[in-house]
Amino acid sequence: MKKNTIILITIALILLALIGAGVWTLVNRPNNQQPKGAQDTTANQQNKTFSMDEVATHSSKTDCWTVISGQVYDLTDFVNRHPGGNEVVRACGIDATTLFTSRTTEDGQPVGSGTPHSQVAQEQLAELKIGTIKKN
Ligand code: HEM
Repeated sequence: MKKNTIILITIALILLALIGAGVWTLVNRPNNQQPKGAQDTTANQQNKTFSMDEVATHSSKTDCWTVISGQVYDLTDFVNRHPGGNEVVRACGIDATTLFTSRTTEDGQPVGSGTPHSQVAQEQLAELKIGTIKKN
């Protein structure tokens, strides 16, 4: 084999080893060294607690938090995508468990069909969770 070929193969092998080591380090990085965005989601979604008073300050179409079954959700980005239109705004700033689970008001008046939201709706809701409600 020519000397040049041996040198080229050696360089290629060294480069491959360096790339491999880089990828390995990235994949196995401990959680506390993950970029900030990656750290946030799961940990915060489970650990943050909010008071009902705090939820009540997010009570408009452009800043909309709600509580459903003790979980706190930020609906702000979802409000304009809601298939049921502005009815979702009723939930902003309050405990909307009844509204969401049975699509009726607290005193039993139907909102739209007056039937429970679908499985799809429940899955969409889960994506919007920001924490749980503080117990008094
Ligand atoms: C809590 C207050 C809410 C009210 C009053 C409300 C009301 C409605 C209404 C009236 C409809 C039209 C269909 C029908 O009448 O059956 C609808 C559809 C729908 N809503 Fe809501 N909604 C609320 C919150 C939400 C939330 C938080 C989500 C999900 C993040 C959601 C997801 C959907 C979806 C996916 C549909 C299409 C039909 C279905 O899958 O059930 N809604 N909603």
